[in-house]
Amino acid sequence: MDRIRFLRTVALGFLALLAACGGDAAAGVRVAVVPKGTQNEFWKAIHAGARRAAAELGVGIEWQGPQPEGDREAQIRVVENVLAMGVQGLVLAPVDEVALVPAVEDAARAGVPTVVIDSGLRTDRRVSMIATDNHAGGRLAARRLGELLGGKGRIVMLRFLEGSASTTAREAGFREELAAAFPQVQVLSDNQYGGNHERALSTSESLLLAHRDLDGAFCPNESTTLGMLLALRAAGLAGRVKFVGFDSSDQLIDGLAQGHIHGLVLQDPVQMGYLGVRAMVQHLRGEPVAAAQNTELVLATPENRAEPRIAGLLRPDLSSLGR
Ligand code: BDR
Repeated sequence: MDRIRFLRTVALGFLALLAACGGDAAAGVRVAVVPKGTQNEFWKAIHAGARRAAAELGVGIEWQGPQPEGDREAQIRVVENVLAMGVQGLVLAPVDEVALVPAVEDAARAGVPTVVIDSGLRTDRRVSMIATDNHAGGRLAARRLGELLGGKGRIVMLRFLEGSASTTAREAGFREELAAAFPQVQVLSDNQYGGNHERALSTSESLLLAHRDLDGAFCPNESTTLGMLLALRAAGLAGRVKFVGFDSSDQLIDGLAQGHIHGLVLQDPVQMGYLGVRAMVQHLRGEPVAAAQNTELVLATPENRAEPRIAGLLRPDLSSLGR
């Protein structure tokens, strides 16, 4: 362990000891919740679920996330910052399944446990993993798009971010299911990364210019789906190109209503945030916690979007945020 990490571990150990002595009894348990970002609607719903659990369980949460989504170094700094505040536990959605491992393992050595939510992390130094079955989500998207195309046509897949375990699993699930169930569908591009929605828009515009004969498209998260939607509209292709994306926001719901988006794979971020904080509190209280829990996965279409279960996932309840 290099000198910096050694000093950081000692400092964290001291702070954890301090918090354990005074924090639990005096100031009450505080749990840090660190998302991948704070811009996307998805993370607002995670926050709402975390706050609901904190209120029910009588603990405090420290909500801090990097801006914009996907900045590995920024998230590492946020984790170090909340640990230095003396929290008793960390609930983390890792931007990168490798880059965040040292900070989480240092925290564990200093006595601060981690619950991972949303996106995997390559360490066993974690209390639980609570996420969507992302590989299954990719397969669900592939079945929808393959069926819309009648089993033939030319498509593109715009990826999100290298190192993002959640979206990488969706991309893999999509490619595997498409090849197995719809071998006649030709993938013209699957190696471009969109990142946040501004960059996803410009990358999508380039893809549409390069492939004017496109029949379909898949995107694995909110920002890439929004970028592709805006590019399809700008190119006059919206509605003609069969388009399946992930997640929800007012703009994506509008795309579904207009028939510019033909499928949205939805998750349940409110429940994910809720279960993440609840698992951490149960662990801190010495109660048993499941090593892994999957949350809801469902396909929204222009046809089923008004059904109560779908509508509730398209527009999550953010009331615990005071909205
Ligand atoms: C998206 O990133 C993923 O990690 C989340 O599951 C969500 O789909 C938010 O931008």
